[in-house]
Amino acid sequence: MKKTWWKESVVYQVYWRSFFDSDGDGYGDLKGLIQKLDYIQHLGVDVIWLNPVYDSPDVDNGYDISNYLGITPRAGSMDIWEELLSEVHTRGMKLIMDLVVNHTSSSHPWFIESRSSINNEKRDWYIWKDAVDGKEPNNWRSYFTPSVWELDTSTNQYYMHSFAIEQPDLNWQNPNVRNAIYDMMKYWLDKGIDGFRMDVINLLVKPKDFSNVENPEKIHYLGNNPGIHEYLQEMHEKVLKHYDIMTVGEIPFVTPEMGREYVAEENKELDTLFHFQIADDMPTWDLVKYKKIQKDWYEALVKSGWNSQFLNNHDHTRQVTRYGNDEQYREQSAKLLATMLHTLPGMPYIFQGEEIGMTGVHYDSIEEYNDIAMINKYEEEVNKGRNPKEVIQSLKLLSRDNSRTPVQWDDTENAGFTQGTPWIKVNPNYTKINVKTALKDPNSIYYYYQKLIDLRKNNEVMVYGQYHDLLPEDTNLYVYTRVLDNEKWLVILNHSDENRVLHFPERYKNNRFKQIIGNYEDAESHSTKEIMNLRPHEALIYQMI
Ligand code: NOJ
Repeated sequence: MKKTWWKESVVYQVYWRSFFDSDGDGYGDLKGLIQKLDYIQHLGVDVIWLNPVYDSPDVDNGYDISNYLGITPRAGSMDIWEELLSEVHTRGMKLIMDLVVNHTSSSHPWFIESRSSINNEKRDWYIWKDAVDGKEPNNWRSYFTPSVWELDTSTNQYYMHSFAIEQPDLNWQNPNVRNAIYDMMKYWLDKGIDGFRMDVINLLVKPKDFSNVENPEKIHYLGNNPGIHEYLQEMHEKVLKHYDIMTVGEIPFVTPEMGREYVAEENKELDTLFHFQIADDMPTWDLVKYKKIQKDWYEALVKSGWNSQFLNNHDHTRQVTRYGNDEQYREQSAKLLATMLHTLPGMPYIFQGEEIGMTGVHYDSIEEYNDIAMINKYEEEVNKGRNPKEVIQSLKLLSRDNSRTPVQWDDTENAGFTQGTPWIKVNPNYTKINVKTALKDPNSIYYYYQKLIDLRKNNEVMVYGQYHDLLPEDTNLYVYTRVLDNEKWLVILNHSDENRVLHFPERYKNNRFKQIIGNYEDAESHSTKEIMNLRPHEALIYQMI
């Protein structure tokens, strides 16, 4: 397996609108991010992934782009963005940008032209179809609405949108579309960015015959259609291979075997991917399932390909709330999850605020939510006659607002995030959970992350070591080794609220164990082991000698 800078990197995701507001308009911005770069650098991360900062009407928080070449005034300006790039590079870090090319905003000039008439030369840049029996062309469902089709009354045809009505899908079959996108990518790469996170990149090709599907609710049919690999190979050939960058594709609905096709080195498509087997198959924690998913992906990618490790981002509820314990054991649990993500095979991603153990929100009224996916689904369900309270309860855990609340900088009003009114409510627990408090406490989650990242930089075994799960069936303990040449590390995680006993496998009984890191202050360091008593959410890494 080839060694590369990006395989060895830790990525920090900045959802800028919730990061830090420098001008009091209630939205985070690029100046605010520049002011906090030292904070990010201090953590030790290598790469910053910036969510979309392009011009956008913000129907889907920037994922509806109306100009790929401009910076939305809400975030700043091109000059400030240039300053950001240079400040990131000065600090020895890299910057990757979001690439959203499955769809544009309906306000993008390409779409405005496309919808203006059936004969417009950009008509074919989007996906237009006639009605069938006076109705939508087929029964496909979108992520955010009951149908992917929206009728354009002036030309009397439907256009396709895999997300909101205001996010029409581009027609990738048209070579002019592909070339326009490639030119846009080169524009940013020539400015010196270090790569792209590619939004739903496996959705670019639609099912060929546009016929009805058996079960429209399960929207897997929107992705991984024949032709997708050819387009990504073309993108690689025409654009990506000419730059020393990293690419991470957001690739829903894939098994490890399918995922491998996108990232196998010899296929010349992408470097790594976000798959959603964990998020999709595990609404709540299920350790045995998690281990199986890790094993399957490891085996699929071990020869050629590279995984990404994450449990939360701007679309997925904060990990300590969804998969850990955000109450009694919040600190230990946040550190345990970090230990796991930084020692499993693949690149670790930190979502802003994760490094201080920020939690999800608990709102009871729809007015308090902001997420278009949540609001649309709520309306759809309530219109079917379901009880509104019950609907909120059922959607709450996975609402995207859980991870979008502002970063909690200190215990002053609005968590020090803004001097104005925040665009989304601050989590009321900011008085207790905030950066200022974390930076004062040498045992904080923040400093634990810093240590993990530092360890990863200085120990290749954490990056390139072979992975072996010792207890695949245990429902509470996750125990695995990483081995590189003569270096052997043992990771022990008690993912439960109870004390547990680990019985060491016979073959390790004569080994000596040197502790590398632990999330309780008073863990044993040098010893031989037969059994080990683990406290709730205890995490340990040992070097085996
Ligand atoms: C995935 C993004 O992460 C999400 O926030 C967005 O709504 C959809 N893609 C559509 O672009």
